[in-house]
Amino acid sequence: MTALKTKNSKLKTRAVPPRRVAPKRSEGGWRKDVERILITDEQIARRIKTLAREIEKDFRGRETVVVSLLNGTVIFLADLIRHLNVPLRLDFIGVSSYGAGTESGELIFTKELRLDVRGRDVLLVDDILDTGKTMARVMARLKLLKPRRIKTCVLLDKPARRLEKITADYAGFSIPDLFVVGYGLDYAERYRNLPFVGVLRPHIYKEVSGHAKK
Ligand code: IMP
Ligand code: MG
Repeated sequence: MTALKTKNSKLKTRAVPPRRVAPKRSEGGWRKDVERILITDEQIARRIKTLAREIEKDFRGRETVVVSLLNGTVIFLADLIRHLNVPLRLDFIGVSSYGAGTESGELIFTKELRLDVRGRDVLLVDDILDTGKTMARVMARLKLLKPRRIKTCVLLDKPARRLEKITADYAGFSIPDLFVVGYGLDYAERYRNLPFVGVLRPHIYKEVSGHAKK
């Protein structure tokens, strides 16, 4: 706490109740659902800074449009673009995997791009590159809008599960075939607010999914 030197500061200090043991910060109940933390918030913060430097090198002096896929990217995106020292415009595409569980289902577009990307450099941001189906579909759609080029950026890459021939130009972390949540990533729309990336306990999703349970 910043000490404010005022006439009454002594008085104010005395008014504070005697020191007590701070109550344990509530964990929001995630411990029973999350097996372990895979990537800490500090590790994410550090990696985002280096990722931003890599991106800056390629986008310097370009008319950049950052296109982010809703909803999983919101936290990653907010942290990433605050470290991106290039003039940019920001827009979103809404995509939703139709179907429960941890598998990519039928992809539906819930929000279309509004900004004009013709002739511009696009940085397509997603939370995780898994089978690659989402990215491949979105890329095909974006290409129709004739951008100058599209570069892809993901926080996480799960190369072991890839079904499409696609790689990310910038990837924060390469992870094994585990279903992870937190830092924007969800399971059934939950856990997005966890500040770290954690491994979801398989019993949470095993009834609805055939996802590898390692
Ligand atoms: P893909 O189409 O199979 O590459 O999957 C991409 C989308 O699936 C991501 O944008 C996520 O929404 C979701 N997804 C894939 N793997 C995970 C995971 O481990 N945790 C949470 N969501 C995931
Ligand atoms: Mg999702």
